[in-house]
Amino acid sequence: MTNKLMFFIGNWKMYGENSLIRIIKALHEASIKFKNKNKKNKVVLCIPYTLINFFVKKKKIKSISIGAQNCHHESLGPFTGSISAKMVKDVGAEYIIIGHSENRSDGDTNKKIKMKIKLAQENKLNIIFCIGETLNEKKTKKTFSVLKKQLSDSIDKSTNSKKIIIAYEPVWSIGTGRTPKSNELKKIFLFLKNTSKKILHAKSYPAIIYGGSVNDKNVSIFSSISEIDGFLIGGASLSVKKFIAIIKNYYK
Ligand code: PGA
Repeated sequence: MTNKLMFFIGNWKMYGENSLIRIIKALHEASIKFKNKNKKNKVVLCIPYTLINFFVKKKKIKSISIGAQNCHHESLGPFTGSISAKMVKDVGAEYIIIGHSENRSDGDTNKKIKMKIKLAQENKLNIIFCIGETLNEKKTKKTFSVLKKQLSDSIDKSTNSKKIIIAYEPVWSIGTGRTPKSNELKKIFLFLKNTSKKILHAKSYPAIIYGGSVNDKNVSIFSSISEIDGFLIGGASLSVKKFIAIIKNYYK
């Protein structure tokens, strides 16, 4: 049920600057040094649009990939300030985050997210598709139905299961320091693996990663859940030290 790759994906949000390019070499070295026998580490940095060109040109290291954090749901048009999936691809990004809860709360609906996923796929980008329940939905025991709807409203059999990574990010966990209990997470991951495989009509399980307050202290708890194929890391991904400690402690 597990994937061949272990993803460590940084989401810089609206932070970061050119000088953080030094993080690339350090991450490359850390991902070679700390690994297990069965899985290959894949490190991705999803950075602000304005840094993509600089990072892609400067990085030199092939093992680290660069991604964007969003795109518009139309392929082109009069959308002031927006960026299309093709523009993201043209500037050299290989990955794209779609459906992050911060964008959902800014107006991204499941329908718009479906359009974005389609455009990202047409432009041959690897998609990091975020889903997750709010605290209120968790309290009212709607987690599984919310996740199922987010999946089935935005992906289907036309989605390439090898080009999509599903990121389970409970909204109540993002930036709060709170994470789900491991028995809850195990159940949710089993559910997501089976449900997404069915929706995608896939032969094998898609990669599913966890996001929300991942840090060097709690990452070892997640390593006991074999269904977790990696992490989407927000705050901690802006610190070279913290990001490397996450990779290292995961394999401890
Ligand atoms: P966090 O953010 O690690 O700071 O909680 C995760 C995310 O929003 O992707």
